[in-house]
Amino acid sequence: MITLKDISKTVGSRSLFTNITASFSSGNRYGLTGPNGAGKSTLLKIIMKQEPATTGQISLPRKVGFLKQNIHDFENYSLRDCIIMGNERLWNVMCERDKLYEGEMTDEVGMKLAELEDVIAEEDGYSADTEAEIFLQGIGIEEDSYDKLMKEIPTDLQFRVLLCQALFGKPEALLLDEPTNHLDLTSIGWLEEFLMKYEGTLIVVSHDRHFLNSVTTHIADIDYDTLIVYPGNYDEMIVAKTSTRKRAEDENKSKEKKIAHLKEFVSKFGAGSRASQVQSRVREINRLQPQDLKESNIQRPFIRFKQPEKECGKITLTIDSLSKSFGENHVIKNFSYEVLRDSKIGVIGNNGAGKTTLLKLLSGIVTPDTGSAKLGHEVKLGYFSQNHEEILDKSQKTNLFEWLKTKKAKAYDQDIRSVLGKMLFAGDDAFKEISKLSGGECARLIIASLMLNEHNLLIMDEPNNHLDLEAVSALAVGLSEFKGTAIVASHDRDLISQFATSLFVFEDDKLIFFDGTLDQYLEKKSS
Ligand SMILES: Nc1ncnc2c1ncn2[C@@H]1O[C@H](COP(=O)(O)OP(=O)(O)OP(=O)(O)O)[C@@H](O)[C@H]1O
Ligand SMILES: [Mg+2]
Repeated sequence: MITLKDISKTVGSRSLFTNITASFSSGNRYGLTGPNGAGKSTLLKIIMKQEPATTGQISLPRKVGFLKQNIHDFENYSLRDCIIMGNERLWNVMCERDKLYEGEMTDEVGMKLAELEDVIAEEDGYSADTEAEIFLQGIGIEEDSYDKLMKEIPTDLQFRVLLCQALFGKPEALLLDEPTNHLDLTSIGWLEEFLMKYEGTLIVVSHDRHFLNSVTTHIADIDYDTLIVYPGNYDEMIVAKTSTRKRAEDENKSKEKKIAHLKEFVSKFGAGSRASQVQSRVREINRLQPQDLKESNIQRPFIRFKQPEKECGKITLTIDSLSKSFGENHVIKNFSYEVLRDSKIGVIGNNGAGKTTLLKLLSGIVTPDTGSAKLGHEVKLGYFSQNHEEILDKSQKTNLFEWLKTKKAKAYDQDIRSVLGKMLFAGDDAFKEISKLSGGECARLIIASLMLNEHNLLIMDEPNNHLDLEAVSALAVGLSEFKGTAIVASHDRDLISQFATSLFVFEDDKLIFFDGTLDQYLEKKSS
């Protein structure tokens, strides 16, 4: 059980939430929801005592699994060790034991070792290796990598190992911040199954509606400056939330109407002889005060991409016998295709299949082993990287406005403000430091830079990761309205279905072109 009492948090001059009092029971699975920047990650960090609350107290069980994001801290550990570190008590004792074995063996050391072995047994330490392997297998990591160091495997796999770390060691509570961001559909299915069987207290943040609906028993939603827990899954929460809000609004409206009538009576007869009737109406007016309804924090950005005035050639991109391998792993084998102007191509396939590599080859960021990808005449490319830090250096001390200024020479200040406003950074938010941005806010800022400039080819790698539902829908509209060519990799079925009219598919170790929509592709596969 996790309990929060009177938790408030203010960042800068903005209050994220005030006086949250809630308890999360074991056996329940809570989805923590709210739009980008609502304060979900902040609340999880407050619960983990990694960040102070402005006011309030927290109580936590002894063993909590927490999904970490700092992959760099683990780069010199093996995958196996990295997972076992998820059980802190076990890990510390194992390290101490190994150190004692290296030194001189005295009676005292022997006694200490016996004590340590007891703890190791208590924490199921003797089956830790096997348990770690079961996790690695479940999450789709090849057996020959188990003893590799973290830094020797690709970034998205490192995030998966950290997920296993959080799940390891039978924690009494699990706090997961966007665990599906680095997973493909197969591993999402595995995680769903694991969580459905989990008996402790789960709090999980996700913008993936399908995932939330299948996993959660309750939704804790951050809105109206507080946190409200609804029973049921995400879709049920939306219905309940809308109807509760509507009831409160209707009640307010009818109160306001009554008050207006009563006030009319008071102003008509206030000075006259019907003093007692007037008094009772004044009392009624005071009693009827409408509730102060806080604004909802849900907002939709407005996404439109501009084209350069000069039209580009009919062929946007010529892909000719393109091949790329990493060691024995032949990611792209002899792929050729001519991308015509205004194509809308979705890129789909499991993680590790090669989507990012393909997009980097097409953007000229990675060089092919053989073959080529050449931009057509007058083609201006805009690229959105899966790893935001490749575009946005968060260690730099700069704000959103200044950063965007560096992205376009001679941009007018009001153009930058206008693009920021469309991406929901209005007023002082334009001058927020980029190091403070949430995941979704980073994605919105990178999209803002693509909107500020003119492109006729957009290549985007998982742009929906971190984005909330409103922003993903706005992006789908922006891409469908875009007059140029768009090539976008994503696991989000809704996004691909909405904008793509053809696909690059990584299917059974091969890259193919499919001339049709995602729905048509899925239909063909199942028939
Ligand atoms: N130290 C700080 N100073 C000013 N603003 C901050 C600070 N830390 C966080 N913020 C702001 O607080 C808000 C909440 O951030 P948080 O990361 O908790 O959001 P989130 O709900 O997890 O969003 P996302 O869905 O995008 O991950 C954001 O607007 C963020 O920019
Ligand atoms: Mg977050």
